[in-house]
Amino acid sequence: MEIFEEIEPLRAFLKGKRAALKSIGLVPTMGALHKGHLALIRASKAQNEVTISSIYINPTQFNNQADLDKYPRMREADIKLLETEGCDVLFAPSNTEMYSGYQSLTFDFGTLDKVLEGKFRPGHFSGVALVVSKLFNIVQPDRAYFGQKDYQQFQVIRRLNEELKFSIELHSVPIVREESGLALSSRNQRLNEQDKKNALFLYDTLSNAKVQLLKGMPFSEIKTEAETRAKKKGEVKLEYFELANKNTLQELEDVNDFKNGILLIAAFVSDVRLIDNMLLVAE
Ligand code: PAJ
Repeated sequence: MEIFEEIEPLRAFLKGKRAALKSIGLVPTMGALHKGHLALIRASKAQNEVTISSIYINPTQFNNQADLDKYPRMREADIKLLETEGCDVLFAPSNTEMYSGYQSLTFDFGTLDKVLEGKFRPGHFSGVALVVSKLFNIVQPDRAYFGQKDYQQFQVIRRLNEELKFSIELHSVPIVREESGLALSSRNQRLNEQDKKNALFLYDTLSNAKVQLLKGMPFSEIKTEAETRAKKKGEVKLEYFELANKNTLQELEDVNDFKNGILLIAAFVSDVRLIDNMLLVAE
């Protein structure tokens, strides 16, 4: 695997690949790689001749300094995993390389980034859009791969791609879960065994809600039940649990069209913030 820490040598390398008409797939990550990330690498390898993964813990998307400080960093293990998967290129830049001292550009996606994650993490999607724009410009991939795990992030990036005319083919890969149902996340590394059991609250709440909605139970009742269960549990601090339109992400009072519905949840388990979601009808 070729490893680049600087933009210009990477550009020169990719220019050569493009001249040889090789298709390029990009998988942006923040490292501490797990099987969810590897599913994206596999999806890219299946469709492109060159797969490039980036590992960069982007400071502008963290609205909480402690979360940034505690974010797991495991470069050597990540490199091994990428090599095993047959990833062709790793781009692992420094902050100076990515930001050159500037941090002033901001993005506003109207109603899309004011709800759910955007409401609880002000500025988060602006930082995501900024770093993803930089990566798209540096790599200029044919295709880019993201996880359904960060559902709202994918919708934001879709808008970014359309509005800034990047013209990159975007792919969303289904959520990879542990056998228990817990969605894989780099932040799970900070959970002990008991926390992991408590963290099942997210998946269980989504799965139960889906069944109950399909049975005709109003979402308001399902939500109140979930809030009561979280309070009883104590170790789980529910941040939001919403039913939304899967395209606009605007919250719905109740479901009128199952095909367009998605359930989204965020909760703290100990001091680790976890998110998960479930489409009412799988795509
Ligand atoms: P990170 O959290 O490292 O995730 C990188 C990619 O892996 C994202 O597209 C995310 O949705 C996907 N992913 C994470 N867990 C997954 C799972 N269990 N199943 C499937 N896919 C999963 O998301 C980011 O980094 C950053 O915001 C980034 C896009 C790199 C910009 O900094």
